[in-house]
Amino acid sequence: MSVIRCDGIVQIYKAQDAEVVALRDVDLTIEAGETVALLGPSGAGKSTLLWLLAGLLRPSAGRLWLDGTDVGRLDQRRLDRLRAAHSGMMLQNPARNLIGYLSAAQNIAFAQRAAGRARRSARRRARELLARVGLADAGDRPAGRMSGGEQQRLALAVAPANAPRLLLADEPTSQLDEESGTRVIELIKDVATAGGTTAVVVTHDTAVSEALSRTVTIRDGRVGAEGRRGEDFVVVGREGAVQVPPEYHHLLPPGSMARIEELDDGIALRRAEP
Ligand SMILES: Nc1ncnc2c1ncn2[C@@H]1O[C@H](COP(=O)(O)OP(=O)(O)OP(=O)(O)O)[C@@H](O)[C@H]1O
Ligand SMILES: [Mg+2]
Repeated sequence: MSVIRCDGIVQIYKAQDAEVVALRDVDLTIEAGETVALLGPSGAGKSTLLWLLAGLLRPSAGRLWLDGTDVGRLDQRRLDRLRAAHSGMMLQNPARNLIGYLSAAQNIAFAQRAAGRARRSARRRARELLARVGLADAGDRPAGRMSGGEQQRLALAVAPANAPRLLLADEPTSQLDEESGTRVIELIKDVATAGGTTAVVVTHDTAVSEALSRTVTIRDGRVGAEGRRGEDFVVVGREGAVQVPPEYHHLLPPGSMARIEELDDGIALRRAEP
């Protein structure tokens, strides 16, 4: 059973009188223990997909299974319960993950409640998580008075605190220097290997994407490409559509016409002058 299965997911935001289609026909399956980097330009729909995987949003159309449970069939209370037990999420804005008047250690303790750990082992785990993100001496400081980078690191210590099946993080290294960034990457990888946790991380940071087992690139609300073990592939979509990656736009610009050439194991596209 897959940890995540998206089947033709569409997400539409209704803003005043306009509608924004943030995701269109997303098909994606993620297996237990995979670590996935979600890539793509600004506005592509990365955060929207992460919110869906966290159970914070319901798809406008299509079906989403989390751990084999069809999210569309759950009422709000059941969805809230699934979310609390299932996932640890770090939102794009670090401060929004934290309770500002609580100390760093209290923020982690708060997140651990759902896991029902014994108090002593919970405190040990909290200290360990703080050390892992380089905040060993900051346990007593109120989260609200930390710098942006410190808040980001603390948020990343909070997200795995309830030992989730699914760790979701939105741009976890955007405000970090290289050393802190490396720490955060190691933490994500260790949580995945040690705890059997699946991780999905939105990132623009190549150090992050190179460290994870798979990349999924979203462009214009669709899954356009995937990468595994350093090799990149384009994804043939539901209607047979293929997105030409930007690095080939000089050869085959958007809006141009191409000739299809049949090969033994596929096709080649060659630019044609109309
Ligand atoms: N609450 C909302 N209401 C209306 N439109 C929204 C809302 N949230 C996102 N959008 C729109 O949906 C699209 C996808 O947004 P999303 O935040 O998922 O992109 P993203 O890939 O995370 O971008 P970034 O890299 O800038 O964070 C964008 O066009 C955005 O303007
Ligand atoms: Mg985003």
